[in-house]
Amino acid sequence: MSLSAQDIAEMMEDTDVDEMVELGHDLIFSILERTPIDVVKAKVDAGGPLWFQDDEGISALHAAVYVENTELVRFLIQNGALWNAVDNQHNSPGDIALSLNNEGCYTIIRDAGIRSELLLTLLASRETLSNSPLSLVLKATDTTAAGSTESYLASRLRFEKDAHGQEICLLTLEDEDEVGVMMGWERGIKTVRLLCHDHENLNEGLKVLNVGFGLGIIDTFFEELPRTPAQHVIIEAHPDVLKHMRELGWYDKPHVKILEGKWQDFIESEELLGVGGFDVIYTDTFSEDYKELHNFFGHLPDLLAGPESRFSFFHGLGATNATFYDVYTHVSELHLAEVGMDVSWSDVDVFADSGKRVSSLTRSLRLRFHTSSSPMFVILYPADVWASRIPAVTRTASRYFKKGLEWIWLIVSFAALIAAPVAVYFVALHSLPDDDNSDDNNNNDHDRDRFDDDDRNSFDRYWKARLISFATWIALMVVVFVPMHMWKNHGKRVVNQMLINWENEDRAVRGPNAPLPTLRMKSPGVISKHIKLSVNIPPMAPSMYNPGSNVPPVSLRHCSYMMTSCTDDIKQYIANGPMDPAAARYYGQQPPQNVGQWGPPPTSAQATQGGAGFGGVPLYNPHDERVPGYSAPTLAYSDEKNPFEDVKV
Ligand SMILES: C[S@@+](CC[C@H](N)C(=O)[O-])C[C@H]1O[C@@H](n2cnc3c(N)ncnc32)[C@H](O)[C@@H]1O
Repeated sequence: MSLSAQDIAEMMEDTDVDEMVELGHDLIFSILERTPIDVVKAKVDAGGPLWFQDDEGISALHAAVYVENTELVRFLIQNGALWNAVDNQHNSPGDIALSLNNEGCYTIIRDAGIRSELLLTLLASRETLSNSPLSLVLKATDTTAAGSTESYLASRLRFEKDAHGQEICLLTLEDEDEVGVMMGWERGIKTVRLLCHDHENLNEGLKVLNVGFGLGIIDTFFEELPRTPAQHVIIEAHPDVLKHMRELGWYDKPHVKILEGKWQDFIESEELLGVGGFDVIYTDTFSEDYKELHNFFGHLPDLLAGPESRFSFFHGLGATNATFYDVYTHVSELHLAEVGMDVSWSDVDVFADSGKRVSSLTRSLRLRFHTSSSPMFVILYPADVWASRIPAVTRTASRYFKKGLEWIWLIVSFAALIAAPVAVYFVALHSLPDDDNSDDNNNNDHDRDRFDDDDRNSFDRYWKARLISFATWIALMVVVFVPMHMWKNHGKRVVNQMLINWENEDRAVRGPNAPLPTLRMKSPGVISKHIKLSVNIPPMAPSMYNPGSNVPPVSLRHCSYMMTSCTDDIKQYIANGPMDPAAARYYGQQPPQNVGQWGPPPTSAQATQGGAGFGGVPLYNPHDERVPGYSAPTLAYSDEKNPFEDVKV
């Protein structure tokens, strides 16, 4: 049989791939086996592929982090290991280092990420350099309204109230999926207070600029400052939002100037620059990526009034992953420093607001959580999911709590349990025939002996009465408590069935191996206002190589606010708090689900998988912006900026 040239080429290619796969496996195995570092280095020098990921998505860098070998991590990074490759559990090596509290490994990886993203930014801004075949820039190719400004501006928006009575702005995507452009819970974020309250020009009236009206939360806060802004400029691009603004009377405020269109259209215009320097600038747009935000940064020196001026923006950069978020926080910080901004951060407790909403919805029961571990279970759900489920649990459980009736039942039961046996006792005593030998001095009816001395088979009358009384008490106990127990238990079953249904729903969405907490309600107490939910938090995707090491938890909170001069960030719960306190605040992000297929990836695919990379980083995380009422964690669904495509430039 003769083989064609193509057959031979294909065979050779197959052989090469097989060889690479073997080398890749061998390299990972050696690292996990803690083979001396010189041997590992020799294997890398001999062609061990650093881009290779095994069936679990583990790369050599992941493996080096698992064995916490800082020197090896540095060596692999220096030799081209991909800092942002994610494994099948969607964890990058940095995430694993975080979960292991390994500051050394984490910092090396994060810094590699920062360098790489800064470099990509630079390359992208220099046409000539970016033409190099060595550079790869990620570009968002999501053409839906969630990922493309043009589609977004052409789409219809709906302003309505959510289940909690909060105003929301919804956008229906082509696949009928609904994305919240802005959710009311963000009212709890005190950005404006932080930006303005200690500003030296506050009493004269600040000059403020807000890009993106949305629900007008930020703009309303500006208007509610102790002194109304002297000049309040709003740039808004969407016609439906502009219509809504008109209906709300924003056009009638003399000090408010509304610029209709994209900020890109005004940023260098006399209409905007003519207003003069701004004391405070805030930007929070939709469906734009980091490239646009970076572009906006570049105009800040022209827009801000002076050294006291402040700027803040909505920060959801790379927010689907702890490491990527951290990298982009640093990247944006560096980019802001480039335009002369000092950056500081502060925490915002966004749960405070959702907590209020939840408690206002609970009718008569309050929830108490009894967890065996940390409160990090909260971070396994997006905020809206959590906020919609907890009231449902309390509402349902409340049906099995009737305070008044339970008090009456309790008082009557106790009274009956005391009175009835006593009454029965006397009735029985008088009704029962006298003992045969009641005249026997040694054995009257009142003695302590249960039996007649003469007749051991004859039961004393008093003891008979006591026995009957006791039997009555037992019967009453059964009659009184069993129905109550059954009723409460039924409540427990109903709520737990609901929790199981949600769990199944989540599992269907997130896959059978997704780390999902198991919530179970204990039986509601009698006249107790509390229901108890026990929460079992699964170990987060233990590695087959290092079963004790949990990879990082996923997060409820996906977005945070970054501000320059004064900054909001999100409070997060940390399973194993990283030793690097600076890293801690970035921790707890939801890993992206839009990961590609596993196996040896193309050299650029890793950043795509994480959704990170210049120009491809979502500014928002859609999971936070879901419609309330949607119940399953939305992890498997669209990221605003997905899918990405690798584009060689
Ligand atoms: C997330 S909302 C802003 C929410 C707002 N910060 C608030 O307090 O309610 C984003 C807003 O930015 C607007 N937007 C999106 N792209 C824009 C652009 N290029 N220029 C101006 N506005 C834009 C959207 O129409 C939307 O109203």
